[in-house]
Amino acid sequence: MAQVNRPIIRTVRGQPASDGAGVKMLRIIGTQAFPDLDPFLMLDEFGSDDPDAYIGGFPDHPHRGFETVTYMLEGRMRHHDNKGNSGDLGPGSVQWMTAGSGLIHSEMPLQQHGMMRGFQLWVNLPAREKMTPPRYQDIAPEAVPVVTRPGLTMKILTGTSTEGVSGPVAGIATQPVYFDVELEAHGLLVEPLPRGHNAFFYCYEGDIRVGSTTLRRGELGVLGAGDRVVGEGGDHGARVLLVAGRPLHEPIERHGPFVMNTREEIRQAFADFHAGRF
Ligand code: FE2
Repeated sequence: MAQVNRPIIRTVRGQPASDGAGVKMLRIIGTQAFPDLDPFLMLDEFGSDDPDAYIGGFPDHPHRGFETVTYMLEGRMRHHDNKGNSGDLGPGSVQWMTAGSGLIHSEMPLQQHGMMRGFQLWVNLPAREKMTPPRYQDIAPEAVPVVTRPGLTMKILTGTSTEGVSGPVAGIATQPVYFDVELEAHGLLVEPLPRGHNAFFYCYEGDIRVGSTTLRRGELGVLGAGDRVVGEGGDHGARVLLVAGRPLHEPIERHGPFVMNTREEIRQAFADFHAGRF
């Protein structure tokens, strides 16, 4: 049967934002214009060599009801939570944190100067897993498999590539795919994706052509229905994230760091947080 290439059905531009203690970033998912792409609730790109743009970090804050995925390209951060978990995130490392029933943590830079660059993605949890105990998958850079093909290099954070190479992050409800793809000039990426998964490209360097659409730096392309994606690097190549996940089709009640299904659950989250039950 003929394969259907997924087209780009919507292009979204990242918007400058500030979060934590004044960290400057580009918010791509989670804005008023583009609140979510089920199951993805937020995508931030942070990247600066100006310490003033990142030095404040993200001091103590809670999460409940979803997962945060931090992927570092450059620089170092330390995370620490109120359950005694801590660890360092360096270039190329991944932290998949299932906040579940809740925790309070900080994410702070471990450097005073130099480049700090990476992404944070928020992934929703299905109703039945929102109150699961918190769980961390901290992945060292050398544990992230790299696939090379003519014209491209691809890191597999989670999901399985067409060669059968699987990423180290496992056991996630929404069966996500998260690939970091580097395309040479006119390099071609052809990759099957699970039908029914919502999916997007996010271009963070160069540009990539998908069907009749060209995505430029800072642009996310929502992918329509089909069996696979086909993308071609521009004249100077491209660096893109390819992310996909099984949509939950459940109601979303969201208030800052809490993402639940009902308003009552949000009220409960605030009550539990203020009573010190995280
Ligand atoms: Fe956080």
